[in-house]
Amino acid sequence: TNGTKVDVLGREYVVDPMTNVTPHLLSHVGRDLHLQPRHPLRHVAQRVTQYMYDRYLSPRGNPLFSVHSQLHPAVTTHQNFDSLLIPKDHVSRKKSDNFYINEGHLLRAHTSAHQGELISMGFDNFLVIGDVYRRDEIDASHYPVFHQLEGMRLCTVKEVYGAHQNMDEYCLFESGERTDKLQGVHSGESARRMEADLKSCLLGLATTLFGKEAEVRWVDAYFPFTHPSWELEVLLNGEWVEVLGCGIVEQEILLNAGVEDKIGWAFGLGLERWAMKLYGIPDIRLFWSTDSGFLSQFEFDDPATKVTYKSVSKYKQCINDISFWLPKDMEYEAADFYDLVRTVGGPLVEQVNLVDTFTHPKKGLTSHCYRLVYRHMERVLTQKEVNVVHKRIEETAASSLGVSIR
Ligand code: PHE
Repeated sequence: TNGTKVDVLGREYVVDPMTNVTPHLLSHVGRDLHLQPRHPLRHVAQRVTQYMYDRYLSPRGNPLFSVHSQLHPAVTTHQNFDSLLIPKDHVSRKKSDNFYINEGHLLRAHTSAHQGELISMGFDNFLVIGDVYRRDEIDASHYPVFHQLEGMRLCTVKEVYGAHQNMDEYCLFESGERTDKLQGVHSGESARRMEADLKSCLLGLATTLFGKEAEVRWVDAYFPFTHPSWELEVLLNGEWVEVLGCGIVEQEILLNAGVEDKIGWAFGLGLERWAMKLYGIPDIRLFWSTDSGFLSQFEFDDPATKVTYKSVSKYKQCINDISFWLPKDMEYEAADFYDLVRTVGGPLVEQVNLVDTFTHPKKGLTSHCYRLVYRHMERVLTQKEVNVVHKRIEETAASSLGVSIR
């Protein structure tokens, strides 16, 4: 940033009131963990890619899917939202949930942002792998940057039904009512066949990576760009966690990209969640570690190598609370405070939770109390060291968010 412009991997953008990317956040752009040799996220991405190569072959025996893993993470609001039929007033567009570069651009919030351009370019079977950005809460399974792998497959009537003598008796489309199960443009049989292929593909992926004994379940879901939609959940340490979203691609997206004779499915999975389940990695911050205690455990070339992560001993937590009055004449969002904690506290902060809200009956002022859990991933933290950071967080909050510390 130089006040009026912000540089994102060599592209310059003019700053405006919508800009909320921070220098700290931007320092993650270009790390490309999914491309780093012997990084666990790359191992997982390679396993998924290999699975898709093996499952979908051309008649000549070549993989059908192409892989796009170096698309620029700065996208337009058209790519991230409009092209995916996300309404103008949809909650997912909120400034408090995204990292906007300016009014028209943001760091992609999902790899789905690239669907439209790749379909327009003529790709029918593709994977997109990349870093995605969301302003989120802070805990062991959330980090403002994570990685997704998107898969998309478009099929002609021949691919859905196989080649037959009287191909004209088969049809992908049939207009009707839009229901829970159908978009109202596909024939029931076509949609069912696509759903069956999608689900068997993804269940096969889960068993290939996690083993046959892994517990998984389908949950109905909603996405503006697929219908019907589902999420796959996996049992992880006794808790069901969502590991992917998927569905039948809204036909309007294909039409807008110039495709009239195909039906499609798409899925998007979070690489960190798959890696955490696959290797038993307990904390999402570890993926950013440059420490050999972490990285050395993944130093192998065959991505299918079995490993169980051994915790570099869990150091003690330090817990400090912070309470302040919210400003009266300024907007305040908890997400602004989370960004600030990330910027000032860096990798020392493990969790931030809003533990108490109080409104003064007479003054009409509201106060928030947050509990900050400090813990370094790879070394001991002293209370003294924590106090210095905590003090700096208080001071920065007071000066940049307009809050007054209680
Ligand atoms: N983009 C969705 C998400 O990030 C996942 C998804 C991809 C869902 C493709 C359906 C189809 O949550």
